[in-house]
Amino acid sequence: MTENILVCTAWPYANGDLHIGHLAGAYLPPDIFARYHRLKGNNVLMVSGSDSHGTPITIRADAEGVSAREVFERFHLRFLETFQQIGCTYDLFTHTDTENHFRVSQDIFTACLDNGYLYQQTEQQFYSETEGRFLPDRYIEGTCPNCGYDGARGDQCDNCKKLLEPTDLINPRSKIDGSIPVLRETEHFYLDLPRLREFLLDYLNDNKTHWRPSVINFSLQYVKDGLKGRPITRDIDWGIPIPLSGYDGKRIYVWFEAVIGYFSASIEWAKNVGQPEAWKTWWYQPESKTYYFIGKDNIPFHTIIWPAELIATGLHLYEPDKTKFLNLPYDVPANEYLSMEGKKLSTSRNWAIWAPDLLERFDPDPIRFYLTAIAPETRDTDFTFEDLVRRNNDELVAAWGNLVNRVLGFAYKRYEGKVPTPQALDEADRQILAEVEAGFQTVGDLLAAVKLKAALEETLRLTRATNVYLDGKAPWKTIKDNPVAAGTAIYVALRVIDNLKILFAPFLPHTCQRLHEYLGYDGQLFGRQFTQSFTESQREHVALCYDASEAIGRWEPSQLAPGQPLREPAALFKKLEPEVAEQEIARLLGA
Ligand code: MF3
Ligand code: ZN
Repeated sequence: MTENILVCTAWPYANGDLHIGHLAGAYLPPDIFARYHRLKGNNVLMVSGSDSHGTPITIRADAEGVSAREVFERFHLRFLETFQQIGCTYDLFTHTDTENHFRVSQDIFTACLDNGYLYQQTEQQFYSETEGRFLPDRYIEGTCPNCGYDGARGDQCDNCKKLLEPTDLINPRSKIDGSIPVLRETEHFYLDLPRLREFLLDYLNDNKTHWRPSVINFSLQYVKDGLKGRPITRDIDWGIPIPLSGYDGKRIYVWFEAVIGYFSASIEWAKNVGQPEAWKTWWYQPESKTYYFIGKDNIPFHTIIWPAELIATGLHLYEPDKTKFLNLPYDVPANEYLSMEGKKLSTSRNWAIWAPDLLERFDPDPIRFYLTAIAPETRDTDFTFEDLVRRNNDELVAAWGNLVNRVLGFAYKRYEGKVPTPQALDEADRQILAEVEAGFQTVGDLLAAVKLKAALEETLRLTRATNVYLDGKAPWKTIKDNPVAAGTAIYVALRVIDNLKILFAPFLPHTCQRLHEYLGYDGQLFGRQFTQSFTESQREHVALCYDASEAIGRWEPSQLAPGQPLREPAALFKKLEPEVAEQEIARLLGA
């Protein structure tokens, strides 16, 4: 049965380059997951984009003395390059400053208002007398009332993850000049979360069993702690205008509209591919599954706020049926944090490895491999260069790369560049073939359950079993006395490698494509990634797109044909010298 799978990934703030924490926590897992489902023949749509609004952007723009637009456009283009290089195959990676996203966000705002889930209220808010304006949440810092951390921001405490209002902070101060802000009255729209409480509880309880325990527990606790109305507008001028007259100085809050991006990007994608209704498959059909890949600091926005917005909007947004909701998140496999060399990653303290920099010196697949091997799926994990070098050499190169090298090299040289023709298979031959073919089920089930690290380990286990088989057969020895038996072993090994090629493909798409060609096949396992410019009535924007029409990879056992001509193979991976780790650390400390 073909499934409809929507793969959503967090929208990165376009205020700086992506680093390894972003890749490991939010951007590689969805790509691996999406590639698996595409190989399975499922109907996959993977969307995201740059988060171009919000104070992370304006803070950087202020600091550089340039416009917010200039900042987000610069980093948006850098994201496109990084994703292209590392192979994150978005059907659409757009951004939130499109006319389409403005319209959809305003429509959702209006729908929530019409359905009675927004209310207006006058509140005291922090105002800077030195600057003559209201201060956005992130411009205010202070002590967290929950855990006592002194660097808590007005929207959230990074230490304990609690979502905050600026007025919750103890000893608030302006991030810009350290001055003490004063309270002034201002009127805003609020999302009526208390009215949605029962819906949200039902929703969370429906999903209790298949969510990661940390995600469901955090979310249930959030509701039980008492839901309060959340202001969803701000006194700023960078962002999406409120679709009502009389609110010129206010904008829709970035967190209210950024999550809408999943929906608006699906609509934009459908329009781009010339099937303007196609997005409804993932958003209306109740059996479609929607997955949201995020870091743990984003959990409440995806398990509470976004479902609340979807429920408050109702299906009647673009369809007359008011009895159903747009599809709510089916799973939110949030990751824990990645640290580096034992210390928390930090942009401001420049303790991070930036993706564009790393990709200058390392191939994409070894990075994908290592970041999956240490993925922070159930607990915080640590990236070290020493470990990267070790796993690259001991696992990727020693187990997988060498297996491919020795079998393909031998077959190419000793069997006239063709797949040898096997004779009768013995017990060992049949066993290794069956064991690796069973991987389509075992690895597939783990991937479908978003246990990517375990899926990679299982694939490595099958690779090691193949090495054991091959050592037992030793065709390079038997070829002298018994060339027929050697040819059978090489045939079996090639066929097993052909299977492993597909099992590894979601993790290592670039090298598996090369292997596919060495094995003598034509065509692309996956589709084609490209950037494209789109022009709306006022604005133009560049997006990353994916065309799957020519992809031929299938998640099914190999039928490798005896006699198939091979292509001259070359090593898939490089061994890394231990000095590489030392050099990288030196760069890091020098930077
Ligand atoms: N921009 C946010 C961040 O980088 C994530 C937004 S995810 C979205 O933390 F769903 F809201 F778009
Ligand atoms: Zn805290």
